[in-house]
Amino acid sequence: MGWNSWNHFAGKVDDADVRAAADYMVSSGMKAAGYTYINIDDTWQGERDAQGFIHPNSKFPDMKALADYVHSKGLRLGIYSSPGPKTCAGYAGSYGHVRQDADTYAKWGIDYLKYDLCSFRDIMQKEAPNNPEKQNQLMIAAYRQMHDALLATGRPIVFSLCQYGWDDVWKWGASVGGNLWRTTGDIQDNYARMAEIGFNQLGLAKYAGPGHWNDPDMLEVGNGGMTYDEYKTHMSLWAILAAPLLAGNDLSHMSAQTISILTNREVIAVDQDPLGKEGSRAFAVGMTEIWTRPLSHGALAAGLFNRDTVAHSVTLDLHAIGYPANAKLRDLWEHEDVSATNGRYTVTVPSHGVVMLKVSR
Ligand code: GLA
Repeated sequence: MGWNSWNHFAGKVDDADVRAAADYMVSSGMKAAGYTYINIDDTWQGERDAQGFIHPNSKFPDMKALADYVHSKGLRLGIYSSPGPKTCAGYAGSYGHVRQDADTYAKWGIDYLKYDLCSFRDIMQKEAPNNPEKQNQLMIAAYRQMHDALLATGRPIVFSLCQYGWDDVWKWGASVGGNLWRTTGDIQDNYARMAEIGFNQLGLAKYAGPGHWNDPDMLEVGNGGMTYDEYKTHMSLWAILAAPLLAGNDLSHMSAQTISILTNREVIAVDQDPLGKEGSRAFAVGMTEIWTRPLSHGALAAGLFNRDTVAHSVTLDLHAIGYPANAKLRDLWEHEDVSATNGRYTVTVPSHGVVMLKVSR
């Protein structure tokens, strides 16, 4: 759990924005709710010196001082690079400098690296033209190489793979030391794209577990392109997917509603459930879907989603999910216990909305 600069700040992010994110992560209550990582995405990189060491650009005058500041708040600092010569935004990547960059990150006090394929695709094509299998091997080797370099620093650094799900990354991501791997292309701050990504994660649950997670991309909650119901759907679905919760908004300007979504402890508890089992779709009727996620102590999270443009009534049948008619039900957005009638819980779910329940025996 943490924050990443890209979705809101993109190429404009600077030292002051990152410090502000750290400040507001604490003062908004997000840190207390479990958010820890402050992650700088693309566009921090400057030039390499004569010895090949990377330096930040003028937006980030002193990376070590920034890391010290973030650490002083009890938070951790993340950074971003690419195995290619250039990042996706055209800044210096780690190609030819992998070991050196890992050492530099460790020296600065970096705790997290997002490693984004970007221009390494050109290297793959150049080195293995018309040979997709060999290209994939080169890609996998590049991720392994950075992981080995991070390990060699002796500093614990979360390793985030970003290559948009190519070559079924969920099948090999953990074997190259990935703690999380993007399963899709980029999210956007609109319901259609968020839903396209979130509801298409079927079949990936078995690859996730403690220490290595599917990453359907960062949150857009609070960025303004979706309604309250749509953002609750986003947060609920990501929690059921056991997804990393990386806020992608401007933490220094959050409405009470945005804070209430990002810090809903009952939904966060689903996301962070220690069993570490990712959920999946259990039922679909028309444009409504029920997704469930097994939780510790024999409980279950159930998201009753309505993907339609009009409200629908949705029924959760306790027997059908393996629970007795008298199972305990709690609505995790209303923060209240609710009860089933004859083993069925029927509720009206607004357009693009969700009712998120915890079911326990
Ligand atoms: C890619 C990634 C995004 C972001 C940008 C930065 O598109 O998927 O998450 O990191 O690069 O350039």
